[in-house]
Amino acid sequence: MLSLTNKRILLGITGGIAAYKCAELTRLFTKAGAEVRVAMTRAATEFITPLTMQALSGNRVHLDLLDSEAEAAMGHIELARWADLVLIAPATADFIARMSQGQADDILTTLVLATAAPIAVAPAMNQAMWGDSGTQANVAALAQRNYHIFGPAEGEQACGDVGLGRMLEPDELANACAGLFTPGQLAGRKIVITGGPTREAIDPVRFISNHSSGKMAYALAAEAVQAGAQVVLVSGPVHLDTPEGVTRLDVESAAEMLQAAQHNVGDADVFIGVAAVADYRPELVAKEKIKKQADEMQLRLVRNPDIISEIAASGSGLLMVGFAAETENVVHNGREKLAKKNLDLLFANEATATFNSDHIEVTAISAEGEQALPAANKHLMARKMLELIAAKLKTRNT
Ligand code: PMT
Repeated sequence: MLSLTNKRILLGITGGIAAYKCAELTRLFTKAGAEVRVAMTRAATEFITPLTMQALSGNRVHLDLLDSEAEAAMGHIELARWADLVLIAPATADFIARMSQGQADDILTTLVLATAAPIAVAPAMNQAMWGDSGTQANVAALAQRNYHIFGPAEGEQACGDVGLGRMLEPDELANACAGLFTPGQLAGRKIVITGGPTREAIDPVRFISNHSSGKMAYALAAEAVQAGAQVVLVSGPVHLDTPEGVTRLDVESAAEMLQAAQHNVGDADVFIGVAAVADYRPELVAKEKIKKQADEMQLRLVRNPDIISEIAASGSGLLMVGFAAETENVVHNGREKLAKKNLDLLFANEATATFNSDHIEVTAISAEGEQALPAANKHLMARKMLELIAAKLKTRNT
């Protein structure tokens, strides 16, 4: 296991059956060199005793916000400042909801708000509760605030159901936490990402465009920064805030997007084409607003440059990653685009379900084969995608 020497971990336990795994988790943390302090919700004490956690961590367990004795030993603000990392494990659906709302009505929610340390969350709940759109929206909100979401895993559940919702095993969680203290998997890499739609002008007030919201590209940009990369995001018109640490270049048309991408790929390692680029544009753009006159009018369209193909053909040695938004034969068409556009990796998705949604389900396609990635919110999927990209970069360099 990776080292956690001298790291101060605040373990927040909430009321789920997986709480019993916190005993082993604490043992692994201390074995790896970390100092552990534990805070528990009242419900958590129904599943594992504070005495057990005190014995294993070697520190008094924090249970109440208004406990004068505990506050005298180490107040909650002091505790929040003490931590190098806050891990909530197991994180119930209820606790995730309360965190996502920014509540501070017990010791653990208050610590989460008060800390400046990274926060990791290990969800654990029934598979239907995990799949519920409310839970997914809450998890997405946490991911957007840069909380690290570890798991959940798939398998048999305490209630007898089978599916996604099991808390990761203690060794997986301990490794994931240790990973947060090592340089990101994309440290030192530059990534250029295109995102959002393009707009192809018809006249000064009208254009051809599509339903891309930019959410997938922005999630990838944010997560790539978290993984240590330098990120340039060439963005079509969207209503999203620029993720922290991302250099954003706003463009409108495919021609502008191509130009901005070409200017920025020179020293890049990876190009990711998430943008839904208009394949055609009006041949002529009217200088003035076109007047309503005849009953019919024809618009002659000409092909736009294929940005990703042009960048791939420029032979710059970039790792080329594309997307394919399809309404039929998603994987088959995706595989054709991988070959036609000369890409190293492609994520094929069903277009109508993905545009503007917070979720995405994709098949990752490369020369080595296909891998179906089950539906997840776009931030969590972005992390998975970046893992695949980092692995490809690694094999390239060896
Ligand atoms: O923005 P969201 O609302 O979050 O939605 C996400 C998404 C559906 C836009 C995204 O998941 C996605 O599938 N993006 C690619 C959309 C698309 O245009 O696919 P395509 O099959 O038409 O193009 C294939 C690839 O070529 C893409 O990488 C695309 O960026 C690129 N391309 C396409 C046309 C063109 N003229 N230039 C390009 O570079």
